[in-house]
Amino acid sequence: MKKQLLALVAMLAVNASALAADIKLVVNADQPGPVIHRNVYGQFAEHLGTGIYEGMWVGPESKIPNVRGWRKDVVAALKELKVPLVRWPGGCFADEYHWREGIGPRGKRPVKVNTTWGGVPENNAVGTHEFFDLVEQLGAEAYVNGNMGTGSPQEMAEWLEYMTAEGKSTLAELRRKNGRDKPFRVHYFAVGNETWGCGGNMRPEYYADMYRHWATFLKTPENNRPKFIASGGNDTDTTWTDVLSKSVRFNFDAIAHHAYTFPSGKWEGKGSAVGFPEGEWISMLSQVGKIDDTLTRSTTILDKNDPQKRLALYFDEWGSWYDPEPGSNPGFLVQRNTLRDALLAALHFNVFHAHADRVKMSNVAQMVNVLQAMILTSKDKLVLTPTYHAFALYTPFQDATSLPAKIENNPVYKVGNVEMPGISATAARAKDGKLYIGLVNSNANEAAELTLQVGATAPKAVKGQLLTAGAMDAQNELSKPAQVVPQAFEAQAAGGKLTLKLPAKSIVVVAVEG
Ligand code: AHR
Repeated sequence: MKKQLLALVAMLAVNASALAADIKLVVNADQPGPVIHRNVYGQFAEHLGTGIYEGMWVGPESKIPNVRGWRKDVVAALKELKVPLVRWPGGCFADEYHWREGIGPRGKRPVKVNTTWGGVPENNAVGTHEFFDLVEQLGAEAYVNGNMGTGSPQEMAEWLEYMTAEGKSTLAELRRKNGRDKPFRVHYFAVGNETWGCGGNMRPEYYADMYRHWATFLKTPENNRPKFIASGGNDTDTTWTDVLSKSVRFNFDAIAHHAYTFPSGKWEGKGSAVGFPEGEWISMLSQVGKIDDTLTRSTTILDKNDPQKRLALYFDEWGSWYDPEPGSNPGFLVQRNTLRDALLAALHFNVFHAHADRVKMSNVAQMVNVLQAMILTSKDKLVLTPTYHAFALYTPFQDATSLPAKIENNPVYKVGNVEMPGISATAARAKDGKLYIGLVNSNANEAAELTLQVGATAPKAVKGQLLTAGAMDAQNELSKPAQVVPQAFEAQAAGGKLTLKLPAKSIVVVAVEG
C-alpha cells in the first residue's frame, strides 16, 4: 500500500513538472503596435561626483587619451550602445545651474561649490559648448534641463537664444566669439527638474502656473524648436500628470516622470548593492510592476486629458539606488553594479515597450560612475557594468515596432511574501526587418523552458545573446572585467516546437529565423 502511494506521489510530481514546463510565448507579428522610440534608451549625465569630471571629462591637457577633453575610451564604449540622447546638466544640479558661468575661456570660469552633490568645487569646465561637443561626438540628441529653482525666465530664455539664434543678436555673436558659429541643435528642453523637491518644493498647481508663465518666453527659430518638457511626478504619484495635462497648453510636449528603485522600498536605509539576500533580489525586480502600474494609470489620465495624443511621457530618471559604497563620498552616489541591475534594466525596457504609445523617452540614472551606471572608471581604466551589457543586448529595439507578446502559464516567482511573474517578455520588428524577442527570467534559482509561437506557427530557430552569471550579485571589476558578459544563445525547432531554455536569473535577446 505504502509503495503504491509513493508511486502515485511520484507520478503526480512528474505531471506537475510537465504542466509547469508548459510555458508558451505567443507573438502576434501581424498586429504591429507603436514604435519604440530610440530615446527610450536615453542616458542622464549630471554634474555629480565623478559622473562627468574624471568619468568622462578629463580636459584636453590630460594624459588620458581624449578628444577635446572627452575620454576616447568612454565615448567609444558609449557609441557601441548607440546612445540616442543625453540629458544634462542635472537633476538637482540643474536647479542651481547658471549657464553663463559655463561659457568663455575655461580658465576664467567661476569656481563654485556643488552644494547639491558632495560640497566639492565645481569649476564649470564643462559648460554648454563642451556638452554639445560630447553629444556630437556620440551622434546623440541633446536634452538640456533649464534652471527654474534659482534662475529666472529671462535667464532661461537667454540660454535658449544663446544656443539657437541664427542672426546677429548679441547672444548669437557671443556664442560665435566662444567658438561656435552655427547654432546648437537643442532637441529637448526641460523647464525645471523635480519641482516637487530639490527644484523648489512646489505644489503641482503652483508649478503648472509657473510653467505657463516661463514657457511663454521660451522662443527659438522654428527649425530649432526643442520639445518642451514639464517636470512631473515622482514614483507612483500621477497627480502631476493629471494637473499638468489639464492646465498647460503652450510650449508643452511632454511630462517628465521619475522613479528610482531601492531594495527596501524606502529612502532611508535603501539596502546594499552587493552581498544581499534573495529577498532583496526579488524586492528590487518586483518593483518594476509598480512602474508598469504607474504608466497604465498615467496613460489613462493622458488619454482623458489629451485624447489627441499631443503629449508624451518621459521617464527621464530611473534606476537602482543603493546605500553609498562604503568609504566613498555619500554625495557622489557611487554604487556597485551587478547582475541584479542588468535584470532590473531589462525589466524596465520590457515595461517601457509595453507603453510605447506614450513613453517616448527614458533616461537611466546615470551614464558613468553614478547610481546605475553603464561604465565605472578608475584613473585611466574603465569597466563595463552588467547594466551596460543589458543596454547592448537591447539595442535592436531602438525604433523597432512593438508587437503583442503574451506569456501563457507564466510561473509565479515567490520569495517570502513577495511575488512577481517569473518571466517577462517583449517583441518587436526592428528596423533591419527582423523580429526580436527580449526575455527575462527573474527566478534566482530555477531555469525555465518556454515554447515560442509566432502567430500559429513555431519558428525554425532563434539566435542571439544571453546574459547571466553564477551569483545574484556577480559584477565586473577592473581585475575581473568579464564576470558578467553576453554569451551566444541559440535554439532550433524540433518536432514542430521551438523551445527556449532560459537559465535562472538571465536575460535573453534573440532574432527569430524562419
Ligand atoms: O540622479 C540623482 C538625483 O536624483 C537627481 O539629481 C535628481 O533629479 C533625483 O532626485
